[in-house]
Amino acid sequence: MDELLKTAVSPLLEWYRLSKRDLPWRRDRTPYSVLVSELMLQQTRVEAVRERYVAFMEKFPTPRSLAEADEEEVLKAWEGLGYYSRARNLRRAACFIAEHGFPDTYEGVRALTGVGDYTAGAISSIALGLPTPAVDGNVVRILSRLHADGTPQDALKREYAARLAEVYPPRAGEFTEALMELGAIVCVPNGRPLCGACPWEGLCRAHAAGCETCYPVRAPKKERKVVHATVLVLRYADMYAIEKRDERGLLAGLWQFPFFEKDAPDFGETLQTKRAKHVFTHIEWRMTGKLVAAREKYPGYVWATADEIRTRYAVPSAFKAFFGWLT
Ligand code: ADE
Repeated sequence: MDELLKTAVSPLLEWYRLSKRDLPWRRDRTPYSVLVSELMLQQTRVEAVRERYVAFMEKFPTPRSLAEADEEEVLKAWEGLGYYSRARNLRRAACFIAEHGFPDTYEGVRALTGVGDYTAGAISSIALGLPTPAVDGNVVRILSRLHADGTPQDALKREYAARLAEVYPPRAGEFTEALMELGAIVCVPNGRPLCGACPWEGLCRAHAAGCETCYPVRAPKKERKVVHATVLVLRYADMYAIEKRDERGLLAGLWQFPFFEKDAPDFGETLQTKRAKHVFTHIEWRMTGKLVAAREKYPGYVWATADEIRTRYAVPSAFKAFFGWLT
């Protein structure tokens, strides 16, 4: 049990009751209205949702009304919110609910289209009163500051979700929203948090250490592995050698010019060379391309014309730097 977190629950709830923002989705709640608002709030600012939520609920007040609406009409009502797949997901979820009723477990909520771990935690606690945390980057921030926790933040979502689950109070939804609210209006990400207004001022270890903004700690970016390679554009008459990449791994199953991470064999006279670089997420290729007049049609390759290579084979853009040699 995380005793510090347990101690932090009541002051947070008291603060929330006094300080929470008056947001439209916090009035007259139904499970359906919670679903609508939480999907709208995914990746979207509260201010943008505030403007749209009321109109959407007036237009589609029940799961059935949304389920029976035309998709075009739903997309229209979503206008300005972006990420339109959420609107389609919401309608599919409404179809399910119109038929089967609103789910009454976390797993049931999590199974609705468009609902991931965070949103399922939020909906289950706010709409169903279940002790299910909703941990996003904001909650990681406030809790990593509370604990002065130097663990890289990527590792913390699951960890904090597990610890929160143990301290959830009976008014589960209020607690979920209180955590969100603290991150939104007090323990803010950029610039200085408003520690003087924080219910955790006396508990917060980052504050005690004089460095709220030291947390959360980001994992150091992994350096890209640099791979040096020789790429041979072997020309024989009007044909060029290509080979299929391994079916597993980077650029799996795509086609390439003969590619050598070690020394390339001697296939004939080098006519031209060209250096090119291609950056992937975790690897960087630094390639030396050589246009080679091949002495023969070496076996083990597919020999194809320039036109075939351009039109029939899927060659990744990393190799397009050498396409100028295909004539
Ligand atoms: N962000 C996601 N869900 C929210 C909610 N219920 N209130 C405020 N901000 C949120």
